Amino acid sequence: MQLATKVDLKLSNGKSIPALGLGTVPPEDPSELKQQVITAIKAGYRHIDTAWYYGTEKYIGQALKELFDEGVIKREDLFVTTKVWPSFWHSPEKSLDKSLEDLGLDYVDLFMQHWPVALHGDENGLPPAPKHDDGSLWYDDDPVTGTKFIETYHKMEDIIDKTSKVKSIGVSNYSIPKLKQLLPKVRKYAPVVNQIELHPQLPQLELVDYCKSKGIVVVAYSPVGSNGAPVLKVPLIQELAKKYDVTTNEITNAYHVLNGRGVLPRSSNLERIKTIIRLPQLSEDDLKKLDQVGLQNPKRYICDSWGYGLGFRYWEGDTLSTEFD
Ligand SMILES: NC(=O)c1ccc[n+]([C@@H]2O[C@H](COP(=O)([O-])OP(=O)(O)OC[C@H]3O[C@@H](n4cnc5c(N)ncnc54)[C@H](OP(=O)(O)O)[C@@H]3O)[C@@H](O)[C@H]2O)c1
Repeated sequence: MQLATKVDLKLSNGKSIPALGLGTVPPEDPSELKQQVITAIKAGYRHIDTAWYYGTEKYIGQALKELFDEGVIKREDLFVTTKVWPSFWHSPEKSLDKSLEDLGLDYVDLFMQHWPVALHGDENGLPPAPKHDDGSLWYDDDPVTGTKFIETYHKMEDIIDKTSKVKSIGVSNYSIPKLKQLLPKVRKYAPVVNQIELHPQLPQLELVDYCKSKGIVVVAYSPVGSNGAPVLKVPLIQELAKKYDVTTNEITNAYHVLNGRGVLPRSSNLERIKTIIRLPQLSEDDLKKLDQVGLQNPKRYICDSWGYGLGFRYWEGDTLSTEFD
């Protein structure tokens, strides 16, 4: 069977991104990330998705050093993504420098804006979730009408223009309204990727089509709905796993890869990391049936409060969004 680890997707700037990437949101003990990364790379993964916010970059750095020292892989054969968090919106290059130091790298392949939001962090981006006394988020800009997130993007463009620290820039958690605000303001470097929550329970077909029409590759996060893997309980996914004789994770990965999207599974289970890399050739009809799951009963699992007001559908607790497309 074909392997998902062998599929590359073309980016609008001529570079490419491996479709299957390892997610690195921290487990209870973040030092476990070192072994997870080593296991993934030895199994054939060539794409690691991380972020300053996750606090896992130094463990990823330890893994990469060992892999490079042992000659298991060369830096240029690996695709590493990191992200600037909203509380660091004013200083993306400082955030990037911290990430590079922890990762032990002199460049990342993709530098992303984690959310199109400006939170009130100090010069070191701290605290990551600043709050007022009443417990509400402390913004530096209005999450609905503000434009500081575009200033962050422009600073990211300056980094790619003036330094060699970044090969491509991209965005994450951008809805259609936010993309419509950003894209006309791009100076020179359009975002090559939009990383969003995506799985059969949340197909977001309009946003996916919009990204495609703008040459932006979609990368799916929380492909099984995050902790507890609720998406894998969907009966159709279990039926398809039997039909194609693969695991349910391989069905949720194939749902993206066969549709030309990236996907970022995360696991603390090393055996799972190694064994969810086959790419069953789901029929067009089965792929459409998977879309139907979420078209009929949509469910979003990541509904953090810093996503309120961004214009995403099915965002629990979001009473700020007024515009959706
Ligand atoms: N840009 C953003 O804002 C953003 C947001 C969220 C995530 N991400 C990225 O996307 C990556 C993946 O998303 P995610 O971390 O939310 O999680 P995910 O991959 O959707 O889910 C991971 C969880 O599902 C469990 N799981 C997976 N397969 C399972 C199975 N067959 N049976 C039982 N449990 C299973 C894992 O448990 P085990 O550990 O036991 O396998 C783990 O707890 C992240 O790590 C991060 O890199 C980005």
